[in-house]
Amino acid sequence: MKDVIRQLEEKREAARLGGGQRRIEAQHAKGKLSARERIELLLDPGSFEEYDMFVEHRCADFGMAATTVPGDGVVTGWGTINGRAVFVFSQDFTVFGGSLSEAHAEKICKVMDQAIKVGAPIIGLNDSGGARIQEGVASLAGYAEVFQRNVMASGVVPQLSLVMGPCAGGAVYSPAMTDFIFMVKDSSYMFVTGPDVVKTVTHEQVTHETLGGAVTHTTKSGVADLAFDNDVEAIEEARRFIDFLPANNRQKPPVRPTDDPIDRAEPSLDTLIPANPNKPYDMRELILKVMDEGDFFEIQRNYAKNIIVGLGRIQGSTVGVVANQPMVLAGCLDIDASRKAGRFVRFCDCFNIPILTFVDVPGFLPGTAQEYGGIIKHGSKLLFAFAEATVPKVTVITRKAYGGAYDVMSSKHLRGDVNYAWPTAEIAVMGPKGAVEIIFRAEMGDPAKIEARTEEYRRKFANPFVAGHRGFIDDVIMPHSTRRRVARSLAMLRDKAMDNPWKKHDNIPL
Ligand code: HXC
Repeated sequence: MKDVIRQLEEKREAARLGGGQRRIEAQHAKGKLSARERIELLLDPGSFEEYDMFVEHRCADFGMAATTVPGDGVVTGWGTINGRAVFVFSQDFTVFGGSLSEAHAEKICKVMDQAIKVGAPIIGLNDSGGARIQEGVASLAGYAEVFQRNVMASGVVPQLSLVMGPCAGGAVYSPAMTDFIFMVKDSSYMFVTGPDVVKTVTHEQVTHETLGGAVTHTTKSGVADLAFDNDVEAIEEARRFIDFLPANNRQKPPVRPTDDPIDRAEPSLDTLIPANPNKPYDMRELILKVMDEGDFFEIQRNYAKNIIVGLGRIQGSTVGVVANQPMVLAGCLDIDASRKAGRFVRFCDCFNIPILTFVDVPGFLPGTAQEYGGIIKHGSKLLFAFAEATVPKVTVITRKAYGGAYDVMSSKHLRGDVNYAWPTAEIAVMGPKGAVEIIFRAEMGDPAKIEARTEEYRRKFANPFVAGHRGFIDDVIMPHSTRRRVARSLAMLRDKAMDNPWKKHDNIPL
């Protein structure tokens, strides 16, 4: 008996070493943690239940039969984050470069299947040289099995990818189909074809980092959501992030007790809006002042900065925030902002997270770049997302809400549940100057007349009351009372029930 126990311990020890101490040290030398160290940091201490530690690959080609490593390059199982179950897989770069064999894929699929079955989030820690080259199509089949599960899990359990090393070729499509991607600066990259292929095909000279590093994907492509300085920071933020989310699409997000009073008044908000309507202000200030304890987890903060999205809590309950940012492009909606916010709104709707929208939008961004790029289709993504969402929707118009963008930003007409405006709101088809230039074109030669017309238009429409007369906004509220008014609305809406007509799925303008 003692012998078998000792043998088991030895086998476990061998598996824990992965590709060996030398390779673990090489991993450390690159500033990266090992697959197991990452799991240890991610999960509550002692909570990790490992599966398939003794799985080995079945490849006999190219001398592979002699080189099996227990676990085959991926550590899988489940554990808890602040007491709530999550499933994880962590690719081990020290074993065949973390490459994906048939057996490696089967391990990942097993935890994904379990996660879907029990309704718990899936967190993937990606650090892999891609398909196990010695296995050929068996490896490709393994990827496809993972992809299929990513799709089945989508909208059922939250999926988070932490890209912490190479992720190239078709392998990128698994993280791409998860809900969020966190990357680590200087040690992770994602691309469909690497710098060498790029050079051959397009003659562009580009480094791994510039082509597909964390900064590129969080500022230029928008593929990744956040970039962190190192593994530790990325993992700590992943823990914080998971705390905002429900375990699955049938649950509500967890409630975290707070001492922050719901009726906390913020007098400084009464002077947030500058007297000059063309002057920007920082919408982030309003968000922070409304959230519990000023805690806001912003997503994609360096991409399409003209719109802010992220998660916070009000009265302890998670809320998704979408807000125009007047500091960037005057808060206009453009292609990138519409895609960014549209995807976020759909995530919130999947996972029963109420949506709080702050509006200060002068319209859609004009120009050939936007039109040729398909702003019509892309802009409609955000419209579509807000319109189909059945979660509680509370909207506050702080200043401009012009034209189609007014409709898009969770207006009453898209089933906004509670729509408020500040007294500084201007809700109209367009700004006074533009409006007068069109409807009084004949008087354009007379600046005094035009000035008077502009003033007349401003008086009539640059306020919240025309919309208020029609019931398109439910009340004009004091800026300092925004937190209380929003919190009470969300509390009232907590048990909102709404269904869309039956359909197989919708046909969002992709
Ligand atoms: C088998 C692999 C491997 C792979 C790396 N290794 N990638 N083994 N299959 N895909 C092994 C190496 O042979 C090496 O083994 C060890 O892992 C570490 O790799 P190094 O090259 O020494 O590490 P590094 O210098 O850090 O470079 C990492 C790397 C490079 C950039 C990832 O290894 C690389 O370019 N690998 C190949 C990437 C690739 O082309 N993958 C297939 C893409 S096609 P030893 O024993 O020498 O230490 C693909 C299709 C997916 O993925 C399609 C899905 C639909």
